[in-house]
Amino acid sequence: MHTIFEIAAGTPLATLSRALWEDRVANEGFRGYWYPLTSSRNVGAAPLAIDRMGERIVLWRDASGAVHAQEDRCPHRGARLSQGRIDADAIVCPYHGIALDGDGRIVRVPALPGCPIEGRLALRTYAVQEIAGAIFAYFPTPAGEAPPPFSPPVEFTDPAWSHFVCETSWNTNYRYAIENVIDPMHGPYLHGDSHTMTVGAKDDVMEISDTPDGFRVSRKLQKDVAFDWTEFGETGGLWMRLDIPYPVKNGPGGPFRVIGFATPIDERHAQIFFWRLRKVSGWERDLWRFLYRERLEARHYAVLEQDRIVLEGMADDARDHEILYQHDIGITRLRRRFKAIAREQIQAVTNRVAVEA
Ligand code: FES
Ligand SMILES: [Fe+2]
Repeated sequence: MHTIFEIAAGTPLATLSRALWEDRVANEGFRGYWYPLTSSRNVGAAPLAIDRMGERIVLWRDASGAVHAQEDRCPHRGARLSQGRIDADAIVCPYHGIALDGDGRIVRVPALPGCPIEGRLALRTYAVQEIAGAIFAYFPTPAGEAPPPFSPPVEFTDPAWSHFVCETSWNTNYRYAIENVIDPMHGPYLHGDSHTMTVGAKDDVMEISDTPDGFRVSRKLQKDVAFDWTEFGETGGLWMRLDIPYPVKNGPGGPFRVIGFATPIDERHAQIFFWRLRKVSGWERDLWRFLYRERLEARHYAVLEQDRIVLEGMADDARDHEILYQHDIGITRLRRRFKAIAREQIQAVTNRVAVEA
């Protein structure tokens, strides 16, 4: 069970130090946010089983094409619904044929027509939205609140931007994936031989500034040359944004923009999403999309592989044995924010436990 739910269930906080509780809550992934689950294209005619935020989830589309995300566990005896099939507006369990709708209601018990469990809401169901080619779900806190609005990064809804979604799985805690992006100075070293990062200086000083949604960490001396800044944003979801100036040979459009999300699978695995975007229209858009598919996508995956290999090689507790320096101000700022979120969430559940006691 998620630590935050254990605390909500009354686990005494005194059994661990406050800092360790906060760390566990952060490492498991914060409840109370929207997360991308998978790319829209992965959810077709058959149910899809995924693990996210420590939970087994089944994704499926009903006859209207609407996506549903539900607990992958039949309320009858616990078979995995993802092993079943879709029948118009219901998902049908393979074991005894019970059908459940997108709200989680038992609509049919074919083995016993008129069975009294028909009509019962029996399946945990997540609020979902399909945005920019991916399925996002809301994971409530133990308070079970209604989902707050999610304002995705503006590029997702502004038609001036053309995007591709890139999705991959990494064997690392999601926080390391976010910290990796919030650290532009790994660019000229780890990716120093990649097609966009061979240019520019290999040393600099970092600075940090506030943005409407979070903060930006930038190189102080080098601007608009390579991977020179990153933003971290919080708008109902947690995301990163960066620009990479592109050589003309890589097609029309301004800088190549990247927007990233890291969704916890569990404490040691994360589903990584990078949207690759350019602001282009008309024939220039067609050309860029062609170039991306033909040539650039493979190169970008190669760069991501460099990140993956380093992050997967790091110990789970690497964070506890570091010597940070000036360039790590983005990571320090991010950790402060994560600590604050964890603290707020723990406080909220302990207040509730106290009121209910
Ligand atoms: S376990 Fe699903 S119908 Fe029995
Ligand atoms: Fe990287």
